[in-house]
Amino acid sequence: MPMSDSPVLKAIYERRSVRQFLDAEVSRECVMEALNAACWAPSGLNNQPWRFAVVRDAGLKDALAALTRYSSTIKSSALLVAVLLDTQASYDRTKDCQAIGACIQNMLLSLHSMDLGAVWIGEILSNAERAVKILQLPERLELMAVVAVGHPAHGNQQSHRRPVEELIVLEK
Ligand SMILES: Cc1cc2nc3c(=O)[nH]c(=O)nc-3n(C[C@H](O)[C@H](O)[C@H](O)COP(=O)(O)O)c2cc1C
Repeated sequence: MPMSDSPVLKAIYERRSVRQFLDAEVSRECVMEALNAACWAPSGLNNQPWRFAVVRDAGLKDALAALTRYSSTIKSSALLVAVLLDTQASYDRTKDCQAIGACIQNMLLSLHSMDLGAVWIGEILSNAERAVKILQLPERLELMAVVAVGHPAHGNQQSHRRPVEELIVLEK
């Protein structure tokens, strides 16, 4: 890891997916900060195709938990952020999905910088339409991910990356 005082690099390198949370609430202020940071992601034509559903209700969380193998993570989280693509705001599906990926990464990094934990749950997308129905959202909103958020139960998460030298396919 390069030596740097950059807080952005520090957050990028230190952030880990958190799948176990303490039984403690997350303030609305922190959630709004993370959503605002998410919205400052770049998007093609600046179309900002992302929409968010913030779910704290235990009944709704349980119903969403039933749609994924990651039910224990969802149940232990303080809240969920369902990230949705507004198909009416979409102009190019590939670019809009890329923008929403950037938006989710902004959300994860900002939560980490506030000492909160989160994990991007994509596996639930096999039940995306059911999730939208459970949340009683309009059909034009397409689920892209669910982010489970909370105070980390521990800091033991390990991860690894392939050396970047293996991944550069051209440098000339
Ligand atoms: C598109 C996408 C989908 C993911 N889906 C899941 C998921 O369904 N469940 C889960 O526990 N983690 C999920 N993750 C998190 C990855 O497993 C995690 O980022 C990866 O293992 C690297 O670990 P790290 O984030 O701690 O560095 C997903 C990440 C991305 C980007």
